[in-house]
Amino acid sequence: MSALTHCTDTPARRSSRFPWVDAALVCGATLLAAAVFVRFELMETIFDSTRAWEHLQVGELPATLLVLVAGLAWFSWRRYRETRRELIAREAAEARLASLLKDHRRLTQQYVDLQESERKALARELHDELGQYLNAIKTDAVAIQRRAARDAPAHRAASAIVAHCDHVQETVRALIGRLRPIGLDVLGLRAALEHYLALVRETTPQRTLSVRLEGELDDLDDAVSLTIYRLIQEGLTNVSRHAGARSVSVSVVRARERPSSDRVAISVVDDGRGADPTAKTLGLGVLGMRERVEALGGELEIRTAPGAGFSILASLPARPQQSSYRADEPQHELASTDHSLVNTL
Ligand SMILES: Nc1ncnc2c1ncn2[C@@H]1O[C@H](COP(=O)(O)OP(=O)(O)O)[C@@H](O)[C@H]1O
Ligand SMILES: [Mg+2]
Repeated sequence: MSALTHCTDTPARRSSRFPWVDAALVCGATLLAAAVFVRFELMETIFDSTRAWEHLQVGELPATLLVLVAGLAWFSWRRYRETRRELIAREAAEARLASLLKDHRRLTQQYVDLQESERKALARELHDELGQYLNAIKTDAVAIQRRAARDAPAHRAASAIVAHCDHVQETVRALIGRLRPIGLDVLGLRAALEHYLALVRETTPQRTLSVRLEGELDDLDDAVSLTIYRLIQEGLTNVSRHAGARSVSVSVVRARERPSSDRVAISVVDDGRGADPTAKTLGLGVLGMRERVEALGGELEIRTAPGAGFSILASLPARPQQSSYRADEPQHELASTDHSLVNTL
């Protein structure tokens, strides 16, 4: 479909219709003027009153003016044609831009999907491969520990191996949690967020964290749930890294007044040192957030100023039409391991 055929009743099309009203006005004014001129014999009057200047050829003025009028009409016609051509070209450019924007959103969404399914596969590999081997090593070390005498070097070495295994298991578990939100597939967004936010509260007791989760959050589109989770994750990571804030509030509110306005509003607001909003130093985190949100047809706004905290405000349609999040493997596969990831590692 050509770009122009998108438009059903564009200004160019409207202006290409014959302007009947204007034409009728011109005809009416001409007839009226003709009637007045006939009534008062205008040309004769002018001719009589300009007879004294006949040596200046004033009598040729009407014909000259007629040529001027014809010239002006031609001039207007040419400008009209130019303007129309420009308008059509502009509309074509706008339609092309809109289509490129749509393609960009689709590609971003595909990229995000790919990234998420890669992360999911990595989390599974870490759990299934590394997790099993770590368990096996730990089991053997515990067996050695039991058999060796308490002060024997073998006992000490085995104890060290058990401690190392515990440490690696903890690290891998945290890594899996970052790769794939724990519980999101099985328990839904609300529980996954509550779990994550409880963890944040536990690890950063120096900062107060207030949370507001409102509305039905568990039947959201997969891509929307994941985007909300990632947005909050990145927002809170930034608070830890850059804000030096004393308090931060997170809110996820789904408002569904009408089916057509089924939206989720997300915000992460801190009272930290803020940043210069005009600085061109925004990294990949904020950029990634914006791309994810816009790919789903949402909007993201950053409000900040030096010393005035940092606010991330986003709004997403709960069920975007272009929702394309489809992990390459069935959801229940990781879902079934998600709990065990936490338990075994
Ligand atoms: N909560 C915050 N408080 C103060 N500054 C922030 C906050 N979040 C982000 N910023 C600023 O925005 C920049 C870009 O953030 P981001 O895109 O996440 O990249 P990164 O975290 O990798 O630096 C940060 O370097 C920081 O200067
Ligand atoms: Mg960041």
